[in-house]
Amino acid sequence: MCGIVGYIGPKQAHPILLDGLKRLEYRGYDSAGLCVAGENGKLSILRAAGKIRVLEELLKKDPPKGIRGIGHSRWASHGKPSEENAHPHTDCKKEIVIVHNGIIENYFSLREELGTKGHRFSSETDTEVITHLLEENLQRLKSRATPHPPHLAHPLLFLAVQETVKELKGSFAMTLLWKQAPDTLIAVRNDCPLAIGLGDREFFVASDVPAFLPYTRNVLFLEDREIAVLSSQQCLLFNFEGKKVSREPLSIKWNLSQAEKGGYKHFMLKEIFEQPRAVEDTLRGRIGPNSTPGFLQELNLDAEILKRVRRVHLVGCGTAYHAGLVGKYLLEHLAGIPCEAEIASEFRYRRPTLDPETLLIAISQSGETADTLSAVREAKKRTSHLLAICNCVGSTLTREVPSTLTTHCGPEIGVASTKAFLGQLTALTLVALHAGFLRGQLSAEELRSFSEELLKIPGGIRQVLKEEPAVLKISKEMYKKEHLLYLGRHIQYPICLEGALKLKELSYIHAEGYAAGEMKHGPIALIDESMPVVALATRSRLYDKLCGNLQEAVARGAVLISVVNPGDRAVTAQSAWTLEVPEVPELLSPLVNIVPLQLFAYHMARQRGCDVDQPRNLAKSVTVE
Ligand code: F6R
Repeated sequence: MCGIVGYIGPKQAHPILLDGLKRLEYRGYDSAGLCVAGENGKLSILRAAGKIRVLEELLKKDPPKGIRGIGHSRWASHGKPSEENAHPHTDCKKEIVIVHNGIIENYFSLREELGTKGHRFSSETDTEVITHLLEENLQRLKSRATPHPPHLAHPLLFLAVQETVKELKGSFAMTLLWKQAPDTLIAVRNDCPLAIGLGDREFFVASDVPAFLPYTRNVLFLEDREIAVLSSQQCLLFNFEGKKVSREPLSIKWNLSQAEKGGYKHFMLKEIFEQPRAVEDTLRGRIGPNSTPGFLQELNLDAEILKRVRRVHLVGCGTAYHAGLVGKYLLEHLAGIPCEAEIASEFRYRRPTLDPETLLIAISQSGETADTLSAVREAKKRTSHLLAICNCVGSTLTREVPSTLTTHCGPEIGVASTKAFLGQLTALTLVALHAGFLRGQLSAEELRSFSEELLKIPGGIRQVLKEEPAVLKISKEMYKKEHLLYLGRHIQYPICLEGALKLKELSYIHAEGYAAGEMKHGPIALIDESMPVVALATRSRLYDKLCGNLQEAVARGAVLISVVNPGDRAVTAQSAWTLEVPEVPELLSPLVNIVPLQLFAYHMARQRGCDVDQPRNLAKSVTVE
C-alpha cells in the first residue's frame, strides 16, 4: 500500500509532489522518491530510504526543475526498504520512469524472461519488471507501422502501455513518464486505487485524494483496467482495450483528516473495512484454483523443511499470539504437525524443547516487538528453521530470520490490530495447507478445494461488514456494562480471546475469553444478569456441545449475544441478539467470525467516548520488554 503522486501543469512540480507525498505518508513510509522531467527532457530522479523528510533534505540541496513529475512513498512488498528499491524505477536506457503501488504476481517469470532478452535489473522490486517490459514493447512497436489512437500526441507510448498492462498479472496502480514523450503523463489502474485531480490546465495523480486536496476538489476516480493519458491541456481516459471512456468528475466535500481516513471516522474502522482486501492481497499469487506450493520459493523456505519438521512453535504477543493459537489448530488439523503456540515474553524465559527438527514461526505486524525478537534470538540458538509472518518488510524481525511470509495488509495505523490479524490468519492458513499437502496429509484435490474456499473468504468478510448497523444497535444497549465473557470452542476459542482483547483495549471494559467447555470448571460462578456473554456459535462439530454450555449461562441470567450462521435455530432461540456471518469451512471460520467482534469493540468504545485509534496506555509498536 504505497503512495503515488503525479503532476503535470504550469507550476514547478517538485514542491507539489513533495507536499502530496507528505499527505500520503500514512500509506507507506519506508522510503520515498520522485522524478521531475526538465524542459530539455532531462529526467532528475531522487530517492532515499527512510521517512519523506530524508527525501526533502535531498531536494533542498538539489531542487530539480520541471513542470511534470511523479513521486512515491513506499511500503515494501518485494525487496527491503533501501535506496535501490525505492521508486521511481527506470528501464535499461533510463528513459522510462515508473512509480507503482500493488503486487505484480508474475514478476518472477517476467524478470527471468526479460533477463534472457538482455535487460539488466538494478532493484529487487516487482515494479522494475514493468519498466523493462514497457521498454521491450516500445522497442517492438517502434519497428512496426501501428494505427494511431485518436487525439494522442504519443500514440506509440499509449500502445506500448496497453500491451504491457495486458502482460501483467496482479494488482497495480502506476504513473509513468517517458523521456521521448514530452508533455505527457500516464496513469494506470488495475485493482488498486488511483485518482486524477482536475485543476485549471493542470492535473494531479494520486493513490488517495488528500495528496491534491489543497489544489483541487474535482476528482476523476479511475476504474479498474483504465489508462489516463494526461497533458497540460487535457485528461483522456481509455480502457485496457483502447476504447475511450468518459465520466463526470466528482466534487469532494471531505476535509483533509476525513480524506486521509477514506471518509471513515477512524483509521481503525477504515482498517476493519480494508480486511477483505488485506486477505486478497495476502493470498495474491500464492494460491489459485490450481493450487501448487509455488509460494514456498518466494518464502525462501525449503519445502523439505515443511516436510521434515517434527514440531512447530508459534510465538507472538497480544493479537499476534492469538493468530498463533489459530495457527496451532490449522497446522495440527491440516498438516498433522505437533504445535505449541506461546506468548513470546514467556517463551523467551523457558527452556522450550527446540531441536534441529523444530520450526519456529514468529508472528508480528510490526516486526519490531521486543519480546518477539528476543524469543527469535533465543530459538536461533537451537534451531535454524525460522519463519516470520510479518507485515513490515525490512523490519528487524525479517532481517533476523531466513524466511518471511509477508502479510500484504499495508500500514496499520489504528493501535489496535485488526487487518494485520486477518493477514496473519491468512498466511498461517497458507503455510498449514501447503505443509499438509507436502506431508501427504492433504490430497491435491483437498488442497484445491480448500484453496477455492479460501479465495471466497474476502467475499464472506464483505458480507459480515454489512452487519455494522446491527452491531451499532447492540453496542448502544450494552456499552454501560463493566464485564463481558466471550465463549466459543475449538478454533473459535482464540477468536474469543481476540474479541475480548479488542473490547478491553478499546473500551476499557473488563472482558474474558474462555473455551466454553471450561466454564463449569470455575468461571460459571461469575455469571449473573450483569455479565453478558458473547458466543461464537457458528456451525461446527462442537455446535451441540456449545449449545449446552450456553444454556447453562442463560439459565444463570446471562444475556446472550451470538455470532451465528444463517438459518441457525438452537442458539438463536436462547439469544437476546444475533449477528449473522456466512457459513464457511470450520477451519476458515476465524477469518470471518472475528469481524463482528472487532466492530462490536469499536462501537462499544465509541459509545463510551474512548479514543479508538489511540487507546490509553498503548503504543503501536512495543519495542521494550
Ligand atoms: C492488540 C495489539 C497488540 C499487538 C502486539 C504485537 O490490538 O495490537 O496486542 O498485536 O503488541 O504487536 P506486533 O504484531 O507488532 O508484534
